[in-house]
Amino acid sequence: MKRLVIIGASGHGKVIADIAVRNGYEEIVFLDDNESIKECAGFKVVGKTSDASRISGDKIIAIGDAKIRERMMHKVKTVSLIHPDAVISRRVEIGEGTVVMAGTVINSDVHIGRGCIINTGASIDHDCNLGNFIHVSVGAHVAGTCSIGNGTWIGAGATISNNINICADCMIGAGAVVIKNIKNIGIYIGVPAEKK
Ligand SMILES: CC(C)(COP(=O)(O)OP(=O)(O)OC[C@H]1O[C@@H](n2cnc3c(N)ncnc32)[C@H](O)[C@@H]1OP(=O)(O)O)[C@@H](O)C(=O)NCCC(=O)NCCS
Repeated sequence: MKRLVIIGASGHGKVIADIAVRNGYEEIVFLDDNESIKECAGFKVVGKTSDASRISGDKIIAIGDAKIRERMMHKVKTVSLIHPDAVISRRVEIGEGTVVMAGTVINSDVHIGRGCIINTGASIDHDCNLGNFIHVSVGAHVAGTCSIGNGTWIGAGATISNNINICADCMIGAGAVVIKNIKNIGIYIGVPAEKK
């Protein structure tokens, strides 16, 4: 029986559970450190995050915080999950522990690293290079030939114009439009995006 252990009984975890069902997982369980959470999306919470290496099954980390996700991925081997209703070019590389949600479009010659979240309805166009632990939020768009550094979070509905480089550990606010390279860590908001 195909079994998935989802680490993090969160809203994000619920969405991952749906993707898992669509990928043929017959048994799904959650781990979470909050003992008051007994179930998530109808699936049982069977232990804490520290149980991850002991429990059998494929594993995925459903924790939005990139630093926590990264720390956990040092300890746990994870699978990647792709919603069957994502449109993904045959020339895309997707790293371990990355999830791709429904309605995303990822075009040709894109590399996406480990532990990333490509969220519902996001798009990543041709020749982009995304590092590790990046979150491209719901409805965000990354145009062609962009490069995004490790741990950067692109907020909901944000747009990254083509040929843009964004360094590691940045936060791009919801709805921002990035039209210049970002070389310094920070929070960037607005149209065009400026450092907050
Ligand atoms: C950018 C962001 C991180 C800032 O959060 P914050 O530091 O807590 O900022 P605050 O809410 O205290 O707002 C501070 C100021 O910035 C403004 N601001 C915040 N987010 C903004 C945004 N995305 N675009 C434009 N202005 C924004 C606020 O209106 C406020 O302005 P004011 O000082 O004139 O009143 C956050 O607002 C954001 O956009 N998060 C993204 C959430 C998201 O995309 N989630 C997706 C989940 S899939």
